[in-house]
Amino acid sequence: ATTTTTEYGMNTLNVWLLKQEAAGTIDSEMAIMLSSIATACKQISSMVTRAAIADMTGLAGAENVQGEDQKKLDVISNEVFCNCLRASGRTSVIASEEEDTPVGVEETYAGNYICVFDPLDGSSNIDAGVSVGSIFGIYSETEQCLVDDDDEEKLAKCVTNVCQPGNNLLASGYCMYSSSCVLVLTVGDGVYGFTLDPSMGEFVLSHNNMKIPGTEGQKIYSFNEGNYAMWEEGLQNYMTSLKTGGAEQGSKPYSARYIGSLVGDFHRTLLYGGIYGYPGDSKNPNGKLRLLYECAPMSMIIEQAGGKGSTGRERILDIDPTEVHQRVPYFVGSKHEIDYLESFLK
Ligand code: AHG
Ligand code: MN
Ligand code: MN
Ligand code: MN
Repeated sequence: ATTTTTEYGMNTLNVWLLKQEAAGTIDSEMAIMLSSIATACKQISSMVTRAAIADMTGLAGAENVQGEDQKKLDVISNEVFCNCLRASGRTSVIASEEEDTPVGVEETYAGNYICVFDPLDGSSNIDAGVSVGSIFGIYSETEQCLVDDDDEEKLAKCVTNVCQPGNNLLASGYCMYSSSCVLVLTVGDGVYGFTLDPSMGEFVLSHNNMKIPGTEGQKIYSFNEGNYAMWEEGLQNYMTSLKTGGAEQGSKPYSARYIGSLVGDFHRTLLYGGIYGYPGDSKNPNGKLRLLYECAPMSMIIEQAGGKGSTGRERILDIDPTEVHQRVPYFVGSKHEIDYLESFLK
């Protein structure tokens, strides 16, 4: 649809946030939180685009709490997110893939929201210039929690504050850094996508009230089949049925698409339909993806768009995290695709 003169400048993220606030869907504190996160995403988008010419590719030379070799951009993106959230004055605690434990924001800047995030998702792709992203979720505090690092008792309380089920999420979203930079978010009232217009440095509404396709969608499955031999039998049978069932029923079999960045694979699934999965296997029974800042925020989005997020046996948003970096098997996509998958894992 072409933009008429009356609409120019009216469909930026900030205008959308003000409209949500005026409608009472969010309060001004949340609007500030989301605007700060959008600022972090703009900065990361610029860094990702210039990584190869700004000496920001390659390893940082440290390992994170996940046991992963941190990329330079993992570390830098984490700092950008932390600084933007701290500067917002609305954040009390942050939990990040790249922080061993939750980080309390010093009292002078502290607010009432908890933000959990994966500052750079799919970072194994960064040196190859393939799509990467950031993922975030926002909770309210269950209790006042100001942390100083050496106070074990306070830190323990802080962890319980952060470890909330996805059902408690007030907002969640992701930003994909790809052929376009798209910020997709929900505040619990539908899913909205904003594309960064680099010519003016603003996110502009480009995907209004997103809904994942149902059976009319594309037959796409997105798994790292390199782990097939370690999958449980039911899952192997499911995978075989995707590849042969179509042909037997005379319909087109499924297509395989796997970017290796959850954000990229998720965004395509949300737009085209299908299923993405990172199952558990005999080596890693809980799979690879982290519940708190990958699976739960993405599951809030997919449910708001009419899809499902599951471990294969349990709804993701119902799970009570026991620790910040806990992993869960993850399947997400069109409702009928997840239902079909779950029927093999009974
Ligand atoms: P991160 O880069 O934040 O550690 O996440 C990577 C995840 C996810 O983005 C992606 O779907 C998955 O790892 C890919 O894992 P494999 O390379 O094992 O397929
Ligand atoms: Mn990582
Ligand atoms: Mn990730
Ligand atoms: Mn990451």
